[in-house]
Amino acid sequence: MQARLVKRLVEVDSTNTVAMEMGRQGARSGTVVVAESQTRGRGRLKRPWISPPGTGLYFSMILRPDLDPVDLSKITLVAGVAVCLALEAECHVRLGIKWPNDLLLDNRKLGGILTEAEPSAGGDYLVVLGIGLNITSREASFPDDLRKHATSLLLSTGQRFERDLLLAAIIRRLDEMIPRVEQNGFSEAFAEWRARDASKGRTLSWVTASGEVVEGIGQGLDDNGAYHIRGADGAIHQILSGDLNLASTP
Ligand code: BTN
Repeated sequence: MQARLVKRLVEVDSTNTVAMEMGRQGARSGTVVVAESQTRGRGRLKRPWISPPGTGLYFSMILRPDLDPVDLSKITLVAGVAVCLALEAECHVRLGIKWPNDLLLDNRKLGGILTEAEPSAGGDYLVVLGIGLNITSREASFPDDLRKHATSLLLSTGQRFERDLLLAAIIRRLDEMIPRVEQNGFSEAFAEWRARDASKGRTLSWVTASGEVVEGIGQGLDDNGAYHIRGADGAIHQILSGDLNLASTP
């Protein structure tokens, strides 16, 4: 097996941007780009991902998954499970996931995943999994509007975890899980996702991509990787885009 390239950068605009460019230039599947800080870190739905030095883990992994294009969006759910399994083993915490892959600790956001994909020259797909985790952030490190909804491993556990150890543990889980879904499908990974579903049975609102708000109760993940909510009128909505907001604590 060839050694993995882990490209370490002090400051970068976004590790996803660098990884995507490296992928276009032919970088191998499994290549990782990790940065101490990002000046233009980005999250889902065009949100910024504030990435100051020293307090977070910010990295992207290049993948060229051997999957049907319709299954590519499921990779992001698998990555969420991989991060949960790694952190649960290393930090003795139990994480929740809010669709598609907000990683929650104590019901607050600990991290997130931004997956970007494009067709590549070889006919397969180039996928970049970008993972951001709050490791030693203090409350003051979060912008005012996020403070009540965010946490870090330090804030929730009182402990300082080594970022490199966590990075290695997450990479190991991704290395195990991606070939398994390529060979056996998603059922095993989705069972792990469902076991951490933070929204099932809870009141939540779904903000559609066009900004419409639908309120309902979380019903769970289907086998296509979509999330279902039951609206006040009893109708089931299948969610494949947009954002879910939990309306109450369980
Ligand atoms: C989200 O919750 O909206 C996803 C956040 C993803 C942030 C990570 S940090 C590393 C990588 N580079 C980026 O610009 N974004 C992802």
